Amino acid sequence: MTVGSTVHKLTLYTNRTVTLSVDGQDVSVPEGANIIDAIEKVGIDTPTLCYGETLKPVNACRVCVVEVEGSRTLVPACAAKAEEGMVIKTDTERVRHSRKLVMELLASSVDLSYAEERVQGYVGDYDANPERFGPPAPQNGHSRDEAHTGHHHPTEVGYAATVQQPPKIDNDLYVRDYSKCILCYKCVQGCGTDHQNTFAIGVAGRGFDARIATEFSNPLPDSACVYCGNCIAVCPTGALMFKSEWDMREAGTWDESEQTQTSTICPYCGVGCTLDLHVQDNRIVKVTSPMDHDVTVGNLCVKGRFGWQFVQNFDEETPNGSEEAGAAS
Ligand code: SF4
Ligand code: SF4
Ligand code: FES
Repeated sequence: MTVGSTVHKLTLYTNRTVTLSVDGQDVSVPEGANIIDAIEKVGIDTPTLCYGETLKPVNACRVCVVEVEGSRTLVPACAAKAEEGMVIKTDTERVRHSRKLVMELLASSVDLSYAEERVQGYVGDYDANPERFGPPAPQNGHSRDEAHTGHHHPTEVGYAATVQQPPKIDNDLYVRDYSKCILCYKCVQGCGTDHQNTFAIGVAGRGFDARIATEFSNPLPDSACVYCGNCIAVCPTGALMFKSEWDMREAGTWDESEQTQTSTICPYCGVGCTLDLHVQDNRIVKVTSPMDHDVTVGNLCVKGRFGWQFVQNFDEETPNGSEEAGAAS
C-alpha cells in the first residue's frame, strides 16, 4: 500500500500498515512511517523547520511536537514512528505553547527576514513574541568562528543574544549568511550522508556558539565544497543563497512575483537531471531541481546548478541580445 507523496522518500517500507488516530480521525500508514506522515495524510499542516522530505530526520528544532496519549513528554512528529493504536493530538494548548517558545527563541536570535514565508508565518500562527527577550544585543566583537567550547560570552542583561555575524561572500556562486541560520542541520545532512557525501560543512562549537562551518572555518574555495548547491536547495531561511539572488536583493531588484519557472533538462551529461529555471527580466536568476523527482530528489551538480551563464552570455548593450546570441549559435 502507498500513501502518496507524503511518505518520507528515504525510507523503505514494508507492506504492513499501522492504524492510529490523529485529532480524532483514524488513519493507516505503512509500518515504518513517521507520525508526520499520518498527520499529513489526514490533511493537517504541521509546522516543520529541520524536517525535509528528502532528508533523514535529525530532530533538531522541535517545532513539530505533538501530544501522544500515554507519553510523558511531547513527541517530535517528524522523527517518531507511527505505531498501531497511537492517539495523537496536534493542536493542544501544550503543543501550541511549546511551538510558541521555539519560535520566540529562534526569532529573537536569528534574522528570519529571508526565511520561507511559511517559516515567518509560524511566528504569528503561535502568537510568538520574540521582542520579550529585549532588543538584539550589540555586537561585542566576538567572532563566532573563533568561539571555543565552554567559552560562551554572555550578552548584556536586557538584550537578546543573537547569532549576528557578517555574511560570508568568498566566491561567485553562493553566499553564506549565518546570521540567518537556525541550525536546522539540513545543509549538513544534504552535504553529507543523505545526498552529496562531500562533508564540506559540519557543526562547530556547542550551545549558543554552535554554528555551521567548513573545516577550520576556511573560506569555501579552500574547503572540500564542490559547489553542488544542494545545501542551498534545502535551507529554509535564506542563510544559503545564490550569489545572483543575493546581489539582486541587495540592489532591491529581486521580485519573485515577476519570476517564471521553466522546467528543462540539463544539457551537460547523460544523466539528464531536470532543471527548474527561475527567470526574471528575461534572465535566469537561479536554478533548482524538483524535490519529488525519484532519482535526483532536488539535487544537482555544479554544472546544472550554476553553469547557466552561457545561455545569456550576450552583449548587454545589444537590444534583444539574447535572441541575437541564440541566432548566432
Ligand atoms: S555546495 Fe555542495 S559540497 Fe558545497 S557545502 Fe553545499 S552541499 Fe556541500
Ligand atoms: S545554513 Fe540553512 S540549512 Fe544550514 S543549518 Fe542553517 S538554516 Fe539550516
Ligand atoms: S521538524 Fe521535527 S524536530 Fe524539527
